[in-house]
Amino acid sequence: MVLKTVLLLAQVAQVLMLENGLMRKPPMGWLAWERFRCNIDCVEDPKNCISEQLFMDMADRLAQDGWRDLGYVYLNIDDCWIGGRDSKGRLVPDSKRFPHGIAFLADYAHSLGLKLGIYADMGSFTCMGYPGTTLDKVEQDAQTFAEWKVDMLKLDGCYSTSKERAEGYPKMAAALNATGRPIAFSCSWPAYEGGLPPRVNYSLLADICNLWRNYDDIQDSWTSVLSILDWFVNHQDELQPVAGPGHWNDPDMLLVGNFGLSFEQARAQMALWTILAAPLFMSTDLRTISPQNMDILQNPLMIKINQDPLGIQGRRILKEKSHIEVFKRPLSDEAIALVFFSRRTDMPYHYHASLAQLNFSHTKVYEAQNVFSGDVISGLRDDTNFTVTINPSGVVMWYLYPIKNLEMSEMFQ
Ligand SMILES: *[C@@H]1O[C@H](CO)[C@@H](O)[C@H](O)[C@H]1NC(C)=O
Ligand SMILES: *[C@@H]1O[C@H](CO)[C@@H](O)[C@H](O)[C@H]1NC(C)=O
Ligand SMILES: *[C@@H]1O[C@H](CO)[C@@H](O)[C@H](O)[C@H]1NC(C)=O
Ligand SMILES: *[C@@H]1O[C@H](CO)[C@@H](O)[C@H](O)[C@H]1NC(C)=O
Repeated sequence: MVLKTVLLLAQVAQVLMLENGLMRKPPMGWLAWERFRCNIDCVEDPKNCISEQLFMDMADRLAQDGWRDLGYVYLNIDDCWIGGRDSKGRLVPDSKRFPHGIAFLADYAHSLGLKLGIYADMGSFTCMGYPGTTLDKVEQDAQTFAEWKVDMLKLDGCYSTSKERAEGYPKMAAALNATGRPIAFSCSWPAYEGGLPPRVNYSLLADICNLWRNYDDIQDSWTSVLSILDWFVNHQDELQPVAGPGHWNDPDMLLVGNFGLSFEQARAQMALWTILAAPLFMSTDLRTISPQNMDILQNPLMIKINQDPLGIQGRRILKEKSHIEVFKRPLSDEAIALVFFSRRTDMPYHYHASLAQLNFSHTKVYEAQNVFSGDVISGLRDDTNFTVTINPSGVVMWYLYPIKNLEMSEMFQ
C-alpha cells in the first residue's frame, strides 16, 4: 500500500515537470484584448473588429516598424475568435472573420519572423461565452493548436470550478508537451484563486506554465495601473521569488499608445513593468501609434533591462513619506536598474538620495545612465549625494554599472 502511494506520487511528479525550455526572458509582443476586446462587428467597424485582417495588419506593423527586431515577436489572439466545434469536436474559428483559418495566420506570422499565440478557456465557455475547453477536450484542443503551428496558448479560467482548474491546467501542460511542438503556456489559473499562497502553489505553476496572470485584468486607466502595481508590491515577498527564466509573473498588458495614460504615466508603466521583469505585451493600434509612444515602447536600454538574462524580478525598496518610491532590480554583469517613482499630484519633486541609502556596495564606483534621456552621471560613490527630479505620476529610471572597484586605501580617504 505504501509502495503503491509512493509510485503514484512519483508518477504525478513526472507528469507535472514539463519544462519546455521556452521564454528564458520575459516574452514580448502584441495581444489583442485590452485595445480591441470582443469587437466582432466587422460590418460597422471592419478595421478594428477581431478578424484575420486585424492580426495581419498588426503582423505587418510588427515586422516593418522595428518592433520584431527589438524582440516584440508574439502576435497573440485573445477571446472571440472561436466559431464553434466541427463534427469531430475540433475547435474552428469564426468563418466570416477568419475565412482562411488559424493555420493560415500562423504561416503568415512565421513568414514575417513572428510567432502566433492563441486563446482558450479552461471551462465550459470562454469569458465572452464562446466554446470553452472542458476537461475532456484538453488533449484534442492542444493537438489542434499544434497542428495549426501555434506557438503560444493563453488559457483563461472563466466558467470552471477550482477543482476543474486544478486538474485542467496541469493536464493542458502535459497535453501541449505531448504534441511535441514547443508551445509557450500562459496560465490565468492563479488570478482565479486569489493569486496568493496557500491557495496558489507557485512552484507547481513554475513547473507547468511559462507565465501566469496573478491578478485582475488591466483597464485603460491610471487607476487600474496603480491597483495592479499596489497589489504586486504589497505581495512582493511572495511573488518576487517565484519569477525567473522560463516562468514569469504577468501583471497584464501595456496600455502605452491608448487613451487612459498621460505621457508621464505611460513612461511609468513601461519602467515599472520592466523593473518587475514583466512580459511586455502591447495592446494598442500599431497602425496609428504616435512617435512619442513608439519611443517609450522601443527604448533599447529599457528593453535590454527587461530582457536581462538573470531574469530576477525587482522589488520596491523604499516608500518615502514624500510619496516617492524607489524600485530596484539586480541585473547581469553587476548592473542594477533603479526606478524613482512619484505618486505626488502637485509638481516635479526634487528627491535627494545617495547610493548608500539604496544599499549599493560601498566598494564600487558606479556610472548611471538615465534610461529615458540618455544622460550619464559618472563617478557615483556610495556617499555621493544626488538629486533626481520626478514629475507627478512619473518616473526617473537609471541603469547603473560599476566602473571601478575601490581599494581599501581609497575607501577611507
Ligand atoms: C516535454 O517535457 C520534457 C520534460 O520536461 C522536455 O524535456 C521536453 O522538451 C518537453 N517537450 C515539449 C515539446 O515541450
Ligand atoms: C506545490 O507543488 C509542488 C510540485 O511542483 C509540490 O512538490 C509541493 O508539495 C506543493 N506544495 C504545496 C504546499 O502543496
Ligand atoms: C538595506 O538592507 C538592509 C539589510 O538587508 C535592509 O534591512 C533594508 O531594508 C535595506 N534598505 C533598502 C533601502 O534596500
Ligand atoms: C551628503 O549629504 C548629507 C546630508 O544629507 C551630508 O551629511 C553628507 O556629508 C553629504 N555627503 C557628501 C559626500 O557631500
